[in-house]
Amino acid sequence: MAEFRKGFLWGGAVAANQLEGAWNVDGKGPSVPDMCTGGSFKEPRRITLSIEQKTYYPSHEAIDFYHHYKEDIALFAEMGFKVFRTSINWTRIFPTGEEDEPNEKGLQFYEDVFKECHKYNIEPLVTLSHYEMPYALVEKYNGWASRELIGLFEKYCHVVFERYKDLVKYWLTFNEINTGTLPMGTFLSLGTIQGFHGPVTRLPDDPQVRFQALHHQFVASAKVVSYAHANYPQFQLGNMICFITSYPLTCNPSDILANQAAMRRMNWYCSDVMVRGEYPSYAKALWEKEGIKINMEPGDLDILKEGTVDFYTLSYYMSTCVGLDPHAESTAGNMSMGLKNPYLKASDWGWQIDPQGLHWTLNEIYDRYGLPIMVVENGLGARDRLEDGTVHDTYRIDYLRQHIIEMGKAVEDGVDLLGYTPWGCIDLVSASTGEMAKRYGFIYVDKYDDGTGTLQRFRKDSFYWYKKVIASNGSDLSD
Ligand code: BG6
Repeated sequence: MAEFRKGFLWGGAVAANQLEGAWNVDGKGPSVPDMCTGGSFKEPRRITLSIEQKTYYPSHEAIDFYHHYKEDIALFAEMGFKVFRTSINWTRIFPTGEEDEPNEKGLQFYEDVFKECHKYNIEPLVTLSHYEMPYALVEKYNGWASRELIGLFEKYCHVVFERYKDLVKYWLTFNEINTGTLPMGTFLSLGTIQGFHGPVTRLPDDPQVRFQALHHQFVASAKVVSYAHANYPQFQLGNMICFITSYPLTCNPSDILANQAAMRRMNWYCSDVMVRGEYPSYAKALWEKEGIKINMEPGDLDILKEGTVDFYTLSYYMSTCVGLDPHAESTAGNMSMGLKNPYLKASDWGWQIDPQGLHWTLNEIYDRYGLPIMVVENGLGARDRLEDGTVHDTYRIDYLRQHIIEMGKAVEDGVDLLGYTPWGCIDLVSASTGEMAKRYGFIYVDKYDDGTGTLQRFRKDSFYWYKKVIASNGSDLSD
C-alpha cells in the first residue's frame, strides 16, 4: 500500500453543538440545534419554535465537552492525534448574531480549547459554521434566505480570525454546504443548516429560496476567504462537501445520465463555485429546469472569483445508486435517500457501506480540481455495548480499516491527501436523529437517549487500534 505523506494529519472530528452542551452558559445564545428535539431512526426530530418544558433537547447537555474538554483532549493526545476538527458555535461569540461586541466568555472558551490542543501538538481544524446559526437570525431573517446574513457572518469570522490567528491555521467555512441543494423534509434538520423557518412552520419546500440562500453562503464564504488571505497569509481555508457518491443503477444510458445530473447537483455544484470561483456551465440549465432565478448584486461574481479555497474537504460515509426504474428498492442515507446497491451492506441506520467508493471519489475530486484533499468525516454509527469498562467494536475497526486501505489506494493513484479525521471521535449526539445510541467514537461516553448517564469516558477497542494506526502513519492496520 502507498505511504501516507510525512506529517499526515491523523485525528478526529466533532461539531460544537453535538458535544459541548452548556447551551445557555456564560452568555451563549440559542442556536438552531438547541431547538431540535431528540428523535430516532423511526421518529424524526422536531424543531420547536420555543423551548418546550418537559421536552428533551439533546444539545443542551450533549456530552458536556464544555466542562470536560481537558480530559477529552488528553484522550485524543493519547491516541496520537495530530489534528482535531471542531467548530465554533457562533452563538457563543454573538448570542443573537447581531451584537456589536462579541461575548468574551465564549471567545475565552475556544482559546482555552485551542491552547489545550497545542499543549499536545494537536493542530485545530476549525469549521466556522457547522449547523449552528443563532436562532435569532432564523426568526428575524429566515436564515441564509436573507442577504443580511453575509455581513453578520463576516463580522463573526473577522472576530474569531483575529482572536485565534496564532492558534488556528486550518479553517473550513460551511460544513456540508451542498446539503442546501436537497429538498427540505428529506432531513428535517435542514433548518439547522440554512436556518429556514420552513421545517418549523412546515412551509412547503422552495428550491428558489434554497439556491438563493446558497448564493448568499457562497458570497459570504468567498468574502471571508479573501479577507483571510489578505490579512492572515498563514491561514489555509477549505470548503466542506457532504459527498454522496452515487452510481448509475444499471448501464442503461438513461440511468447514466440521471446519475450524472444527480452528481452535478448534489456533489459538484457547490464545490465548482468554491474551488473554481464561478458557477459551472450546467448551472443555468439546472436553474431553468427548477424555476430558479438567482438574484445577484453587482460585484458578486468578482467576489466568488477572488475567494477560492486552498484545499478541498469532504465527509464520506456511504454511497447510493440513481436510476429511473420506479420499482427499484430505495435505501436510507446521510441526508439523501437513494436506490439500493445489491453489492453493498448497510449500517443499522441503512447507510450503505462502500469503502471502494471512497477510493473512486477521491480520484474523481482530485482529477477535477487538483487541490489537496482532506477527508474530514467518515465513520460507522453503531450501537455499542459497554462491557467491563470497554467496548469490543470490531465492526467499527473493520469499517475504518477498509476506508483507510482505500484512501491509501487513492494516494497510490496520485491523490494529494492531507489528512483524515473520522467523525465523532468521541461519542456525541447524532445530527440526523438526535440519538446517543448512534455512536461513532473511539471513546465511549456514558450518556443515553433519555438524557441519563454519568458522562464518564471509556476507551473502546478501536481507541487502541487507532493509536497504532497513527503511530505507524497508517501502515499497521492489524487488530
Ligand atoms: C454529517 C454531519 O452529515 O454526518 C455531522 O456533518 C453528522 O454533523 C455526521 O453528525 C453523521 O451523521 P449522524 O446523523 O449519524 O450524526
